[in-house]
Amino acid sequence: MDCKAIIRALLLFLSLAYATALSCPDSEREALLKFARDFNQTAAGFSPWEGNDCCEWEGVECDNRTGHVVHLDLQGRPFAGSKFDPSLLRLKQLSYLDLSYIDLACLSIPPWIGSFKKLNYLSLSSSNFCGVVPTQLGNLSRLQTLDLSGNNLTLSNADWLSQLTSLLRFDMSRSSIENTSNWLLALNMLPLLQDISLARCEFDNFPHSLPFVNFTSLSLLDLYGASLWDFSNNSKVNSSLPDWLFRITSLQYLYLTESGFTELIPFAIGNLTSLKVLELESVDLDAGIPSSLSNLCQLRKLRLLFSTINSQLDTFAELFSGCLQNSLQELDLRFTSLSGNIPDWIGNLNNLRILDLSENSLSGSIPASLGKLPKIRKLSFNDNKLNGTVSESLGNLNELISLGLSSNSLVGVISEYHFSNLTKLEYIDLSNNPLVLNLSHNWVPPFQLSDLDFSGCKLGPQFPSWLQTQKPLNYLDLSSTGISDSVPNWFWNSMTNLSVVNLANNELHGVLPNLIKFSDDPELSIDLSSNFFEGPVPRFPSNTGQLYLSNNSFMGPIPDDIFQLMPNLRVLSLSMNKINGRIPVSICDSQLISRISISNNHLSGELPNCPNHTTYLEDLELSNNSLSGGIPKWLCDLPWFQSLHLRENSLSGELPSSLKACKSLHTLDLGGNMFTGRIPIWLAELSSLKILSLKSNKFVGQIPTELSNLTALHILDLSDNNLSGPIPISFGNFMSMRTPLNYMCDYFPPLDSYYNHGSFYGENMILDIKGREDLYGCDLLSQMTILDLSRNSLSGRIPDELTNLLGLLVFDLSSNDVMGQVPSKIGNEGEAEGPTIGQSSQTPTNVSENADENRKEILLLCLITIAGFAVGFWAITGVLLVDKRFRIWWFRYVDSLYDSLYVTSRVWFARLKKKMSKINTTDG
Ligand SMILES: *[C@@H]1O[C@H](CO)[C@@H](O)[C@H](O)[C@H]1NC(C)=O
Ligand SMILES: *[C@@H]1O[C@H](CO)[C@@H](O)[C@H](O)[C@H]1NC(C)=O
Ligand SMILES: *[C@@H]1O[C@H](CO)[C@@H](O)[C@H](O)[C@H]1NC(C)=O
Ligand SMILES: *[C@@H]1O[C@H](CO)[C@@H](O)[C@H](O)[C@H]1NC(C)=O
Ligand SMILES: *[C@@H]1O[C@H](CO)[C@@H](O)[C@H](O)[C@H]1NC(C)=O
Ligand SMILES: *[C@@H]1O[C@H](CO)[C@@H](O)[C@H](O)[C@H]1NC(C)=O
Ligand SMILES: *[C@@H]1O[C@H](CO)[C@@H](O)[C@H](O)[C@H]1NC(C)=O
Repeated sequence: MDCKAIIRALLLFLSLAYATALSCPDSEREALLKFARDFNQTAAGFSPWEGNDCCEWEGVECDNRTGHVVHLDLQGRPFAGSKFDPSLLRLKQLSYLDLSYIDLACLSIPPWIGSFKKLNYLSLSSSNFCGVVPTQLGNLSRLQTLDLSGNNLTLSNADWLSQLTSLLRFDMSRSSIENTSNWLLALNMLPLLQDISLARCEFDNFPHSLPFVNFTSLSLLDLYGASLWDFSNNSKVNSSLPDWLFRITSLQYLYLTESGFTELIPFAIGNLTSLKVLELESVDLDAGIPSSLSNLCQLRKLRLLFSTINSQLDTFAELFSGCLQNSLQELDLRFTSLSGNIPDWIGNLNNLRILDLSENSLSGSIPASLGKLPKIRKLSFNDNKLNGTVSESLGNLNELISLGLSSNSLVGVISEYHFSNLTKLEYIDLSNNPLVLNLSHNWVPPFQLSDLDFSGCKLGPQFPSWLQTQKPLNYLDLSSTGISDSVPNWFWNSMTNLSVVNLANNELHGVLPNLIKFSDDPELSIDLSSNFFEGPVPRFPSNTGQLYLSNNSFMGPIPDDIFQLMPNLRVLSLSMNKINGRIPVSICDSQLISRISISNNHLSGELPNCPNHTTYLEDLELSNNSLSGGIPKWLCDLPWFQSLHLRENSLSGELPSSLKACKSLHTLDLGGNMFTGRIPIWLAELSSLKILSLKSNKFVGQIPTELSNLTALHILDLSDNNLSGPIPISFGNFMSMRTPLNYMCDYFPPLDSYYNHGSFYGENMILDIKGREDLYGCDLLSQMTILDLSRNSLSGRIPDELTNLLGLLVFDLSSNDVMGQVPSKIGNEGEAEGPTIGQSSQTPTNVSENADENRKEILLLCLITIAGFAVGFWAITGVLLVDKRFRIWWFRYVDSLYDSLYVTSRVWFARLKKKMSKINTTDG
């Protein structure tokens, strides 16, 4: 054996010995296995603990010299036991323990966790721990991070906290801090403490003063949504910001958003001179921002959104003229009721990267001074009242990524010069401004956009060929831009990143090619509605999720395999075209479809029958075609089916008893067909029904008295049939006609297009209110209470019980043989302007003059009504903020509400005003 071989053998021996020393000790492996028994070892996404060397197990780490287990991370592992096994205590060297995101079904924290002498990291976050935090945790004197957030825990004796002398980070967010006044004193003793997170905590005692502020290292204090509670009444208590807060001069990050502190921001905030980030969203700042804020020379980020500042922006000139000029990087003042012009001094904030002044009442122009913001990346002035021009100096901003000017009244021309140096621009939204975009046909833009919204600006008449250069484009909205052109072929097949394509409401014409390709997004949305497209309905990409083609001149039959070709299709709108042929049989293969509208076409044949087929279909609109036959059974087997519009077809026969299964049906509109037989009694079992129209059919016999069991019904139109017999006395019991309604419309975009006024998803329907037919959207429909029995052969006395129908707006018995007085109180809420009802009912009057002055009131009413009192204001505005498409729709929706008012009667209007005053009084 030579020397080399000996050395080699020795090395081998040493490395083997070393490796053995490294693998985990038997006792620790057994302890781990015992502990793991209560976890689901076969749970998806985790590898099971197998093999001898526990140091190799997922979530386990050992010290690389001693081999002891030092680190245990069980985050998210499903727990299946009833308590933790204390065997874990054998891991004496454990320094890191993560038991977060495990659903423990309200287990309490085992006190023995306090025995891990070497622990420096402990997270029990979001694991559904319950009960009181055990004081034994105070023994963890080496602990640097303690995260108890997001459980159902109560801290009720905080003395032990003061023993955690190594603590750097303490997170107890989303807990109750009750029966303890000393939590603050205890934290105040921790010399190294850097972060305190008490977001969304409920305190029964939030100390106002602290004799000696000791927090020398504290840099972060998170009191987001924290509030003072009266636990005996379970209600919030108002409180002002505590004094001691403004003496923690080391503080760099202060989060007070939505905290329950109601008083104004004190002048003392100017003492927090280390502050870098201040978030004060949704706090009442009515008196403005204290001028001392100008002392915060480190302040980079100031977010005050949703806090009512309610001043002219220019009043802050001095505040922003000092050292904030150089420090501020982000200024977010969305929804703060700012008014006045955009002052020139904004241009002096020369480190600004984000400026968001959206959703205020700023007026005037986009000033030239903004062109001086050399580092700006995001500029947002959406939804203001800007009514001037846009300075060309914006073309300087060569770091700009996002520009939002939508929903203002900006005027003038946007030229290529405005974009000259915007090489990094990715998002641009100029929508809803009367701006004229003067961009030449062969322009080569300096940017590569991903989102472009010019909706409502004047861009046409030519289709912008420079779009061809925008390869990354994902979101494109050119609706209502005055384009009067054919769409070039490259658009249909080379824009392969587009997920949202909106060309609605232009004058686009021509036949679509048979091969259309956009991105692979499984939610691809294409809106070509309200144009002059013609020819057959082409093949759209198989990943199309929403397809709006209404109000064009598409003709011929719908491809029979359309639902097979587009398995992701959720919305299909083809109404108002020249479609003929049958409803495609592939509807029986549809998978995700929830809304179909093919009304106002020339469809013929019967509704397809798809026995045993289940889809998500909610809404089927086929009015105004030439369909024949009856209503197929399968529709009522669909669990979500709620709206069936078959008005003005040639359907016939008796109503099939399979309709009985339509338990979620809200709307059944069968007017203008040839249905025969009696009105079935079982209709009264469709308990969700809100709107029922059987008008202009051939129904005979008596009106079933049971219909009054439909407690949600507020529109019942049985006019123009051959019904006979008396008016059921029970009709005095219609619940929803007794009191005026307030129900919630679904706030989804309209089915026909986002841009097709007057036709809204939720419900929309043509109503004939005494000789005048109009389309009513859900907003108005939901307010309507109508009982129309006119043009039948009803006889007998008008029952006195109808007096109960106080909410009734239209009550029509004309052209019958009924006798007697119409009870005088019907529909009369005790005001002179109540509807005059009789055998001839009222005629609507035009209210256009009133409408203007009362527009605001109506918007408010609609907002409240549509949101529903339960959902509340923030649900709506929350959605408004989040979803841009919804926001656009919303404003259009509100606009068209206004339009629809022209067709309603003065009576309705009087009622509305009355409701308004009620709302005002309840609110006040
Ligand atoms: C463990 O997880 C697997 C896969 O997620 C599941 O099938 C099994 O039912 C679970 N076992 C227990 C006891 O919960
Ligand atoms: C042990 O691990 C630590 C941290 O992972 C590393 O810095 C150190 O170099 C390792 N020591 C040896 C001997 O591998
Ligand atoms: C929270 O814990 C308390 C007991 O501490 C218990 O009564 C309550 O049901 C728990 N709540 C939830 C949502 O688990
Ligand atoms: C301040 O902190 C020190 C530890 O750094 C502690 O000994 C002292 O008691 C604290 N003072 C107060 C008033 O809490
Ligand atoms: C703010 O600082 C000033 C000067 O140091 C001091 O006089 C004042 O008391 C401080 N205010 C508060 C609330 O701590
Ligand atoms: C812009 O709006 C402001 C405030 O409403 C108004 O005072 C001003 O006259 C308007 N300017 C123009 C050019 O319309
Ligand atoms: C664009 O940038 C170049 C170089 O940075 C500069 O010379 C030019 O003036 C800028 N143009 C505009 C319109 O700001």
